[in-house]
Amino acid sequence: FEPSAGETVITQAQKLRAEDVISVVGCVKLRPLGQENKNLVTGEIEIHSTDLTLLNRSEVPPFTPGQQDLPNEDLRLKYRYLDLRREEMQQTLALRSQITNIMRDYFQSNGFLDIETPILGRSTPEGARDYLVPSRVHEGLMYALPQSPQLYKQILMVAGYDRYMQIARCFRDEDLRADRQPEFTQLDLEMSFVEQEDVLTIVDGLVARLVKDLLGQELSLPLPRMTWDEAMERFGHDAPDLRFGMEIVDCTDLAAKAEFRVFSATATSEGGAVRGLNVKGGAANYTRRKIDALTEFVQKDLGAKGLAWFRVEEEGTLFSPIAKNFSTELLGEIKERLDAEPGDLLLFSADQWLTTCKVLHGLRKKIGAEMKLYDSNDFHFSWVTDFPMFEFNEDENRWDSMHHPFTAPRTQDLPLLDSEIAKCRAQAYDLVINGYEAGGGTIRIHDNKIQQKVFNLLGIDEKMAAERFGYLLDALQYGAPPHGGIALGLDRIVMLFARTQNIRDCIAFPKTQRATDLMTNAPNTVDTRQLDELALKIIPQSQR
Ligand code: AMO
Ligand code: AMP
Repeated sequence: FEPSAGETVITQAQKLRAEDVISVVGCVKLRPLGQENKNLVTGEIEIHSTDLTLLNRSEVPPFTPGQQDLPNEDLRLKYRYLDLRREEMQQTLALRSQITNIMRDYFQSNGFLDIETPILGRSTPEGARDYLVPSRVHEGLMYALPQSPQLYKQILMVAGYDRYMQIARCFRDEDLRADRQPEFTQLDLEMSFVEQEDVLTIVDGLVARLVKDLLGQELSLPLPRMTWDEAMERFGHDAPDLRFGMEIVDCTDLAAKAEFRVFSATATSEGGAVRGLNVKGGAANYTRRKIDALTEFVQKDLGAKGLAWFRVEEEGTLFSPIAKNFSTELLGEIKERLDAEPGDLLLFSADQWLTTCKVLHGLRKKIGAEMKLYDSNDFHFSWVTDFPMFEFNEDENRWDSMHHPFTAPRTQDLPLLDSEIAKCRAQAYDLVINGYEAGGGTIRIHDNKIQQKVFNLLGIDEKMAAERFGYLLDALQYGAPPHGGIALGLDRIVMLFARTQNIRDCIAFPKTQRATDLMTNAPNTVDTRQLDELALKIIPQSQR
């Protein structure tokens, strides 16, 4: 505002505050030469205003969207409209919109139909707790919000819509983490007359398209694949971060020869394993104090009994408080097995095999980040395939599906359903991006006999099956084509492409870790009248 604008305008302009909404009339002019601000989109021009109208006066905001340091997240969530004004949030939501556009365009051009499925439906067996909606019309009956459109999409295949896609909202009442929301979005798809290869190929194409459009890079296809067994053996996890190496090395056979009781006893026990990691050049990074911190981390967070370690000294000897329990020859073998050189740090977990996976994966992830073993701008996409059909549920003492009960076993593993179900592998696959499970799917069982057998193994009897998903079983009896599909976690994919680690930053109105919406205060109490209509009564915990 220049003096030429007149005294009224100037006086008014002086009263303007941040976040006020104004309308300005004036003449757009180039800034004088040398005074352009290249950092601003509008940095080369100025408006020489002649008139100013205050359209809306803003209260002093609890934080300024443009401020450098972010206020705490609760405040951001409460005043979400201010937070969403931030440039970063605007960019992330624009990115999300771009990603959904690419997805729709890609699937449309590959002959997929976008079909909506109900939100008010029946419980689906994805393994989490359901969100329930009481029916007013049918006293005492409930709808369940879908944990995914799984059963509907299979029924669409039976109905002859052989390529389905949907950007679908899913609801799961489960423990929340940084990469999980109770209400989230999947890019869901299903195809008929396909094998695993067809599903992977179509998703490969989508990933390449996203990488090309969003990062301007060419991705070479097919994406790398590894089986679940290999992923667990080499990285201890079914969604390994492949941006860096530091693979797990099995030393169970060597540990059996050690005088060190923890090693020898574990190595020779049923299901026990001793496995390690070589942190290349890690001796300098991890002092005794830091190793103690790592030990506490694996014990407290990962259920480890301890952490054994060796430092490779300059002259090549292995230093460790436990080294005296190992013969020189054995130390030499360990060194060779882990390809250890001076300056390296060797870490070992001795436990049940699955626990060593958890511990070493946790260490690999933590150390990878701490030692910056990868460029955080890098992307790595891959498939993990051949998941186990079942996993043992210790608490309930029974076998559960690893994915869901409609997942088909590998054809060559069908006989294992009668003998060793622990060894039976499924036609199941996950898309992994930078150590995150970005998507998961399976080829489905379309043969009723195999379906019945799988239900039996899961302890789902005929009555229970009929009650819970009888409509799917019925549908499968009227000419069901072989089919399979996958669902990609849209919020997670946006999170990765936006290079953030907080899924809430990728959702306009997310929930907190405690599943609340701080802006609207949902969930909230409702009128007694509303409860009465639904024939519901709230009995406080203390009175139950
Ligand atoms: P699944 O349960 O593996 O498969 O889910 C598919 C993908 O959805 C994402 N995801 C989540 N994202 C955010 N918050 C959550 N709470 C959450 N839960 C899952 C993950 C996951 O890989 N019906 C099957 C798919 C199929 O078999 O076709 C299903 O839902 O990225
Ligand atoms: P201790 O014999 O219990 O004093 O342990 C000696 C070292 O072995 C310590 O560094 C422990 O952290 C480590 N340790 C103990 N139990 C295990 C285990 N199950 N796996 C790996 N290291 C262990």
